[in-house]
Amino acid sequence: MLIGAALIWTVVVGFAVYVTCIKPGAHSETTASRLIIWGGVAFPVIVLAILLAYGLTLMPGLREAGEGLRIAVSGELWWWRMRYFPPDTENPIESANEIRLPVGQRVEITLTSPEVIHSFWIPNLAGKVDMIPGRTNVLVLEPTKTGVYRGQCAEFCGASHALMAFSVVVVERDEFDDWLEKQARPALRPRAPELKAGRDLFLATGCGACHTVRGTRAAGIIGPDLTHVGGRLTIGAGILPNEIDSFAHWIAETQQIKPGVHMPSFGMLPKGEIKAIAAYLESLK
Ligand code: CUA
Repeated sequence: MLIGAALIWTVVVGFAVYVTCIKPGAHSETTASRLIIWGGVAFPVIVLAILLAYGLTLMPGLREAGEGLRIAVSGELWWWRMRYFPPDTENPIESANEIRLPVGQRVEITLTSPEVIHSFWIPNLAGKVDMIPGRTNVLVLEPTKTGVYRGQCAEFCGASHALMAFSVVVVERDEFDDWLEKQARPALRPRAPELKAGRDLFLATGCGACHTVRGTRAAGIIGPDLTHVGGRLTIGAGILPNEIDSFAHWIAETQQIKPGVHMPSFGMLPKGEIKAIAAYLESLK
């Protein structure tokens, strides 16, 4: 492209120099029309057609996922369900609201939604791709630098659309493999008595009807999987920092923090119980 552009630029500037300095007089009408037809119509049409054909042949290669990892992302109201499919296993590893990716590896992300249209967007890594009910769109990307990036829903999807974010953490390959292996395991069993109390309250209050914590009897699928929720950067889909206080705030005032979300506020629980559940969730690294 650069060589082609340089050549065309030289020719155009050459013409300008020719008609202003070398032969500034009037030119015949036939020469002028010929120049316009060949230089102004035929030449750009041919060059652009060749470039278009070349560009189209490159496109399938850009979408090829290779042998690597596949991640299925589903846009929920208003959070993200993530399922990792490593190449050598059939059982997906479920997570939510945070994507981890190995640097320098192509990843295929399949995108869908059960209810309304969302748009999956990680501005620093790839373009927007819509998540449309009844359809699976595919995004292939390859992060080239480690770091933390922000993702955001980019299609108005209801009251809390603007609060539907996620983080993308790009790490080295080894670190990613360790992380994925840990994600596949069931939740840590709490040792400390206050964390055990938190777990018992979590189960007794009915949180398990909507949330899964693998390794306990909480197996709900309506809300985000919380098996390793304490290891994520944020909670509430990119809204609050991952701290005990944030969990407590979220449990007590869910509807104020994210209006319209399926989870009701649990502010009627005693403060001490909320704190215990919050501490248990934060401990699930
Ligand atoms: Cu989901 Cu906007």
